[in-house]
Amino acid sequence: MGQRCADRELGDVLLIDIVEDMPQGKALDMFESSPVERFDARINGSNNPADVKDSDVVVVTSGIARKPGMSRDDLLTTNAKIIQSVSDSIKENAPNAIVIMITNPLDVMSWVAHNRLGFGKNRVMGMAGVLDSARMASFVATELNCSVKDISPMVLGGHGDTMVPLPRYTTVSGIPITDLIPADRIEAINDRTRKGGAEIVGLLKTGSAYYAPGASAAQMVESIVKDQRRILPTCALLEGEYGLKDTWQGVPCMLGKNGIERIIELKLSDDEKKLLEASNEQYVDRLTQELQLI
Ligand code: 2OP
Repeated sequence: MGQRCADRELGDVLLIDIVEDMPQGKALDMFESSPVERFDARINGSNNPADVKDSDVVVVTSGIARKPGMSRDDLLTTNAKIIQSVSDSIKENAPNAIVIMITNPLDVMSWVAHNRLGFGKNRVMGMAGVLDSARMASFVATELNCSVKDISPMVLGGHGDTMVPLPRYTTVSGIPITDLIPADRIEAINDRTRKGGAEIVGLLKTGSAYYAPGASAAQMVESIVKDQRRILPTCALLEGEYGLKDTWQGVPCMLGKNGIERIIELKLSDDEKKLLEASNEQYVDRLTQELQLI
């Protein structure tokens, strides 16, 4: 993620991790690639959480990752405690930051962070929809043997098996994929998208995806720091949008210098609405479980 932000020259990058000297080594190695890759960005590493001081944007990946056979929910208890402590440090040292959560289970961790930080809802969000949509677009490009550049994907809902790929709103050069791909193949793409994270974990055996989540988070950071106002699927606090209240779900958001500038409400069919509600239900179950642990 840090490398992608540096490549895009989004600003100075600071990697913070608890593993002694590891972030310093990675940062130095990334920086030493800059003369070759021709990007100007200062990249540093630190083991001190307080060094997040005065950051404009903080991307949080702290916590444990899945192993094969684990669901994201299995990480909930351990990661909730880590996110509470990380949020305390951000609140104290970078009170004006915009926070992008990546730690899983993503939608619950976004709630935990927002709850602990006490920041406005525009300044706390989760990265998942960009990743899930990118996976969907990759599978569409494979299916059609076409460039990924012309695909505009859309995935809503929680970052889990009940996420809601939206073929009706997924287009190739403006053409809905429902006009280009047979229904059974679209369902196969939707299913592979929902299980995209587990597919990578199963192949890697020792960890979870890295490159696509990093690229996805960097795209959100870029839209914020450059005030691009891109409309990207983002895990956000809903307060009535899509008929959902006080819940965190992936929906299209305009991301700019203030963080979430606007939540975009798509017109959903009854079936699509039911899928989003089901995805939210799963989130609420996890949150209820989480509440008992806090
Ligand atoms: C994924 O879907 C890590 O949750 C992330 O790969």
